[in-house]
Amino acid sequence: MTKRIIVTGGAGYIGSHVCVDLLGAGASVLIIDNLSNAHEEAVRRIGELAPGGIEFLRRDLADPAHRRDIIDAVAAFRPDGAVHLAGLKAVGESVAEPARYYRVNIGATLTLIDALEAAQARTMVFSSSATVYGDANPNPVGEDAATAPANPYGRTKYVIEEMLKDLARSKASEPGAAWRIANLRYFNPVGAHPSGRIGEDPNGVPNNLFPFIAQVAVGRRDRLSIFGDDYPTRDGSGVRDYIHVCDLARGHTAALDYLGGAAAPHVVDINLGAGRGYSVFEAVAAFKRASNRDIPYMVAPRRDGDIAEIYANAERAQRLLGWRAEKTIDDMCADHWRWQSANPEGYRS
Ligand code: WQD
Repeated sequence: MTKRIIVTGGAGYIGSHVCVDLLGAGASVLIIDNLSNAHEEAVRRIGELAPGGIEFLRRDLADPAHRRDIIDAVAAFRPDGAVHLAGLKAVGESVAEPARYYRVNIGATLTLIDALEAAQARTMVFSSSATVYGDANPNPVGEDAATAPANPYGRTKYVIEEMLKDLARSKASEPGAAWRIANLRYFNPVGAHPSGRIGEDPNGVPNNLFPFIAQVAVGRRDRLSIFGDDYPTRDGSGVRDYIHVCDLARGHTAALDYLGGAAAPHVVDINLGAGRGYSVFEAVAAFKRASNRDIPYMVAPRRDGDIAEIYANAERAQRLLGWRAEKTIDDMCADHWRWQSANPEGYRS
């Protein structure tokens, strides 16, 4: 049966790759995106990579004035479920503008819930984040580890997870009204589709390591600042669990398949990580190998809110979804570089 899936934030970095994977698996998608951190060119290129059922609605899930249009469009699309990625995601910005982060991230989710309820499509894969864990857990971090998000962005993800758990419990005993929800806790998504046609295109100065390295390699930035080389890690720089965005996208399709099965619980938290970490210095070295470009850098003070090391225990995804990350750090760098070198100014190129 062809699944019909709403993808909020589907024009964005993760969302565009999720759409390509869903379309490749035979689904049809309705993208709802306000393009605040995405480009309509990405929607066109999704269609180029995965011809199939794509509809696009440019609306803001967090804008009350758009609520009616969204509920009507979702009902008309007759969805089987949704992948919910739309939201604000810059940690530093969330510290400066917490109220906006709560209003947008939680408000968008509440509108989507209402639209799915009205369409009687109570299946959702939610884009959560390893940021909900904070820095108090031993590695590898499993889903039952303590959740202690250290910034407003991470706290919005935690609050939404809890809200979805309450929703799932409220309908658990109502036959035909039960929700099926997966909170996917992403570690560090990087890389791009191997075609080089879609990829990460952050607005302004990149907050994250890989897009910054890629922009140095392509000549858009002079040098990388490495935020601290005095962490208690193997080489002193921060260690993260980098996961190829195509592996991540495949995890969403696998989660939807799982939620459609009889054995699925009403709600479940699942890590999407590779289960091993790489340091900043190791990531820079890998990108140099892939791009054959120098990556000038300077060691700068630690960044507020950063933790030394985190990587996933990814066993639950393997057990429940039959999914695990397959691509290597060299695949991530090669694919990220192919995208960046072919699109030096991102989608504006
Ligand atoms: C990785 C490492 C930095 C930039 C964040 C969010 C998380 C998710 C992914 C949304 C750290 C170092 C970075 C730079 C550097 N986002 N670094 N120089 O902070 O692990 O996770 O992005 O879901 O929720 O918290 O990713 O790429 O910013 O940092 O040295 O210019 O690279 O100190 O050790 P992070 P990151």
